[in-house]
Amino acid sequence: MTTYLEAEANPIRNTGAIRIYGPEGFAGMRRACRLTAQCLDELAAIVVPGVTTQAIDDFVAKFARDHDTVSATLNYRGYPKSVCTSINHVVCHGIPNDKPLKEGDIVNIDVTFVVDGWHGDSSRMYPVGKLKRAAERLCEVTYRSLLIGIEAVKPGGHVGDIGEAIQAYAESERCSVVRDFCGHGVGKLFHDAPNVLHYGRRGDGPELKPGMIFTIEPMINLGRPHVKILNDGWTAVTRDRTLSAQYEHSLGVTETGCEVFTFSPGGLDTPGIAFQRDPAAAE
Ligand code: MF3
Ligand code: CO
Ligand code: CO
Repeated sequence: MTTYLEAEANPIRNTGAIRIYGPEGFAGMRRACRLTAQCLDELAAIVVPGVTTQAIDDFVAKFARDHDTVSATLNYRGYPKSVCTSINHVVCHGIPNDKPLKEGDIVNIDVTFVVDGWHGDSSRMYPVGKLKRAAERLCEVTYRSLLIGIEAVKPGGHVGDIGEAIQAYAESERCSVVRDFCGHGVGKLFHDAPNVLHYGRRGDGPELKPGMIFTIEPMINLGRPHVKILNDGWTAVTRDRTLSAQYEHSLGVTETGCEVFTFSPGGLDTPGIAFQRDPAAAE
């Protein structure tokens, strides 16, 4: 089976310099990101009470095979699966396993496919059956945080503008922003410069220039921002065990703002739409 071994297969390295991509880069990212977003769309019908996160991994692995692509996460720095599945108080990098999802859970599914060397990285929250209002509200706040961050992307602005916008909004909703993980340059590399912090100050960090391609992927908690890593070396959880949510898009800076590459082809981006889905209608 084909797996992705970035260190061996890819001569490109993260040197700390921010790459500027041209039209071929944007075209390549559109292809990779469309496939990732299509897979995230199809997952909406799969995530129901009783399903295991391993079944979600199996679905993503098969989707990759069927579309002649590979998952960037499989074997990435020893990560063992094709997808990350982060449930409830898991902040990110949850590893699929055989435990069934239960009614009321919220799960982030984070997919990265590689097409012709281009990385399409995106994640969304999925409701498992009917949610309690607090969980639903957290997902809405997190999705809005991502959109508010995206709105701050303009050439001539700075990476810090994104972080300030996200932090100001999330905290105004009495939520907190995780500091230990950030967005990242993406493109020919999975994780590249710059780091895109989801907190901070306007004007800080590198200047935004047309041709930069990166992710924004805020992790927002109902409680305090602090996380710890479990003994598996991957799973990040909130220290206070409160709920955490995350949404992620890959985007490119344009002359006027930005182009989001990972929007849902099926219009399933917003929690409001995905969460009102009638599971019976998906049969
Ligand atoms: N997709 C994640 C991100 O948004 C990275 C996952 S790396 C893994 O950057 F190894 F945990 F899969
Ligand atoms: Co990412
Ligand atoms: Co991701």
